[in-house]
Amino acid sequence: MPALLSVRNLVLLTVFSSIYVYLSGCNQQDVPSSVISNQPVESLEQRLLGADVERGELLSFACRACHTLGLGEDHMIGPNLYGIFQRDVASSIGFEYSGILLGEDFIWEPEILDQWLADPDDFLAGNNMLFAGFSAAEDRADVIKYLMEITLDESL
Ligand code: HEC
Repeated sequence: MPALLSVRNLVLLTVFSSIYVYLSGCNQQDVPSSVISNQPVESLEQRLLGADVERGELLSFACRACHTLGLGEDHMIGPNLYGIFQRDVASSIGFEYSGILLGEDFIWEPEILDQWLADPDDFLAGNNMLFAGFSAAEDRADVIKYLMEITLDESL
C-alpha cells in the first residue's frame, strides 16, 4: 500500500503519537492505572455524558491518517467517514471494502463503533483496518462524541 508511506500520513502519525503519549500521561497523573483497570466500564451512554470533544478531536488524528471526515472528501486508505452514524456497514460509494466487511449486515450505531474501536480485529477478524484500537473506554467515548458532532449527515 504505497499511500501508507506518504509524507502526509507520516506527519499525521507522528503528530498523533506525540499527542497520544501526552494524553495518556495526563490520565495517569491522578489515578494509578491499576485502579482504572479494576473499574467496570461504564456504558457508552454514560461515558458520552462526560466525554471531552476537544480531547476527541486530538484523538481523531489517529483516524485521519487513513480517513477523511468532511462532507464529500476523497477516500484514503479507509473510506470517508462523513455521515457514518446510522449508515449501513461497508456502504460508502466508491470505496473497495474487504470481503469481511462486505459480508456484514449492521448499521453503525455509536455503541457498535465503540466495540469496533476497542479492537477492530477482535470485532471482525481479518478486516482491512490495520489499527490497534483504543483500549481505554474514555478515549473511545471522546473520539465518538467528536465524530458525532462533525460527521452528522444533515440529509438524514
Ligand atoms: C491504518 C489505517 C486506519 C486507521 C488508523 C483507522 N482506520 Fe478505519 N478503516 C480503515 C480501512 C482500510 C477500513 C476498511 C476496512 C475493510 O474494508 O475491511 C476502515 C473502516 C472503518 C470503518 C467502517 C466504515 C464503513 O463504511 O463501514 C469505520 C467506522 C472506521 N474505519 C472508523 C475509524 C476510526 C473512528 C478511526 C480512528 C479512531 C479509524 N477508523 C482508524 C483504515 C484505518
